[in-house]
Amino acid sequence: MAGTVAWLEDAPGAVRPSAPEGDEHPMRKVTKQVAFDGGWDEERRRKVAELFDSMAAEWTASHNSAERRASISDALDRGAVRGGRVVELGSGSGMGTEQLAARFDDVVALDLSLQMLLHAPPASGARVQGDSSTLPLRSDSADTLMLVNMLLFPAEINRVLSTDGQLVWVNTGAELTPIHLMPEEVVRALPGEWTAVAGRAGAGLWCVASRVS
Ligand SMILES: C[S@@+](CC[C@H](N)C(=O)[O-])C[C@H]1O[C@@H](n2cnc3c(N)ncnc32)[C@H](O)[C@@H]1O
Repeated sequence: MAGTVAWLEDAPGAVRPSAPEGDEHPMRKVTKQVAFDGGWDEERRRKVAELFDSMAAEWTASHNSAERRASISDALDRGAVRGGRVVELGSGSGMGTEQLAARFDDVVALDLSLQMLLHAPPASGARVQGDSSTLPLRSDSADTLMLVNMLLFPAEINRVLSTDGQLVWVNTGAELTPIHLMPEEVVRALPGEWTAVAGRAGAGLWCVASRVS
């Protein structure tokens, strides 16, 4: 609804995309619809789960690079993420969960795709198959929610995140990420008033958002 974003300087070695944004990617439109128009239904849920189930093996083999991990670690470091009860939504095959589990004790990874969850390394936190549009979590039960290249469901994030909780949003391919929103769009999509710090590292961009108290 409303919000401010303070951009930090790019981390050393951050790469900004030279190509135009990937607006033609079909997930681009879905991402905007889900964030702003509630564009999620049973048919879309089924298709997205099938898509990522079918991609799980290839995704696990090819997507865990240092360039992609850099934007996650920078978000956690320069975004001053406190941890607490941490839930990663759309955790996929665990690239982000590994970093969370290395820093915080109480980490749950949630994903729609069973195959993605099955490909995650064994040490990276508890895993739950679930839909982020209807989270199997109590209201006010998470101190940190992290989404890496994942659809934003604003109402559920607002419900589940504690009053002083932090939302970590990462696009590991910055503007070229198919599931992409700029930090300004993230804070605009969330109900109420939010403030965020944002940055770029590796090939990606991130923000850490919290409610204005
Ligand atoms: C682009 S992948 C990103 C995976 C991982 N975060 C990464 O960056 O490597 C998107 C992930 O979000 C999951 N996902 C999509 N819609 C979801 C939903 N409604 N609830 C939970 N997970 C969802 C997909 O199954 C997939 O694993």
